[in-house]
Amino acid sequence: MGIKISGIGSYVPEKILTNFDLEKIVDTSDEWIRTRTGIEQRRVAADDQATSDLAYEAARKALEMAKLDASELDAIIVASISVDHIFPSTACILQQKIGAVKAFCFDLEAACSGLIYSTEVATSLLRANDKYNKILVLGAEKLTSEVNWEDRNTCVLFGDGAAAMILEKDASNECCILASDLGADGSYKDILQIPAGGSRLPASEKTIAEKQHYIQMEGRDVFKLAVNAMVNSCKKVMAETGITADQIKWLVPHQANYRILKAVAQRLRIPEDKVYMNVNRFGNTSAASIGLCLDEIARGNYANKGDYVLLTAFGGGLTWGSILLKW
Ligand code: UT7
Repeated sequence: MGIKISGIGSYVPEKILTNFDLEKIVDTSDEWIRTRTGIEQRRVAADDQATSDLAYEAARKALEMAKLDASELDAIIVASISVDHIFPSTACILQQKIGAVKAFCFDLEAACSGLIYSTEVATSLLRANDKYNKILVLGAEKLTSEVNWEDRNTCVLFGDGAAAMILEKDASNECCILASDLGADGSYKDILQIPAGGSRLPASEKTIAEKQHYIQMEGRDVFKLAVNAMVNSCKKVMAETGITADQIKWLVPHQANYRILKAVAQRLRIPEDKVYMNVNRFGNTSAASIGLCLDEIARGNYANKGDYVLLTAFGGGLTWGSILLKW
C-alpha cells in the first residue's frame, strides 16, 4: 500500500531577529554567524504564541491543500522539543483547536529528527491498520523559549516555526514514501540536551539560577556525528531502493548549519545546487525544519511528479533518520 503526502503547510512567526540584532545581545558578529552557520536571520514567536499556536497555522494550511476537514483525521502526531506543557500533549491541544474530533493524539520527541520519526510512525500505522486512513504529522517548535540568551554558542542558532503534513493511503501505489531509515545512540545523550525540568532534575531555585532549563550543546562533537549519521542513513535508503545520487532532485537535510549540509551532500556526491537550504532565513527550527523546506518546494513547484526527494535529519538523543520520497 502506497502512502502519499496529500497536504503540506507551514508557518513562521512574523518577528524577524537578524544577526545584527544579536550583536546587541551577546558577544557575536554577523560575520561569525554567517560564515560558521549560514544563518542570517530567524523568526521569533510572540510571547503569547505557544508551539500549538504555530502548529495550528501550519495544520490549517495542510488541511486546505489536502481538501480535508479536520474531523476526517484519524490521528495527530506532533514532533517537538518545545511542547506547550509536559502534559497534556501539544497534539491534544491542537486537536481541540482544529476540531479533529475523532483523532487520537500524541507527541513524539526525537529532537531535530522528529518529523522523520513521526512520518515513519504514521506511515506504519496507515500500512498496518484498515481503520486508519488520514494522519496529520507536525514538526513544531518555539525554540526561542528554550535558549539561553546569554550563551552565544547556542542562542544564535535557533528559530521558531511549524510544519504540517497529511499522510494518506494511496491506492495507486505510485508514491510517495518509498523507504526510510531511523536510528539512535543514547550514549551521546549529554552532548545536546536541556538538563533540567524533567524527573532527573526537577525545577528548583538552583536549576533556574544555573540556567539548566535551556538548550546546551557541544557544537563541534555534534557537527562531526551529524555528518556521519546523515550520510550513512541516506546511503541505506538509497541502497534499499536502488536510487542513485544522480537521480535525486532534492536533498532536504535538517537545516542545522550550511556547512553540515554541504558536507553531507559532498559525501553523497550530490551537487550543492540540489541541496534545499533555507537555514539562512529561519535558522535551526529543529523538528520543523525539513517541513519548512518541503512546503516551499511544494508551493514553489520546485519538484515535478515522479522526482526523487531525499530527506535526512539528525538531532539530540542522539537520533537520526532518512526518508526517500517520490514526489
Ligand atoms: O540541530 C541539532 C544538531 N545541531 C547541530 O547540528 C549543530 C552542530 N554544530 C555546529 O553547527 C557548529 O559546531 C557551531 C555553529 C555550533 C559552532 O561552529 P564551530 O565552527 O564548530 O565553532 P566552535 O564551537 O569550534 O567555536 C569556535 C570559536 C570558539 O572560540 P575559541 O574557543 O576558539 O576562542 C567559540 O567560543 O567560536 C566561538 N564562538 C562564537 N564567536 C562568536 C562560539 N559561538 C560564537 C558566536 N559568536 N555566536
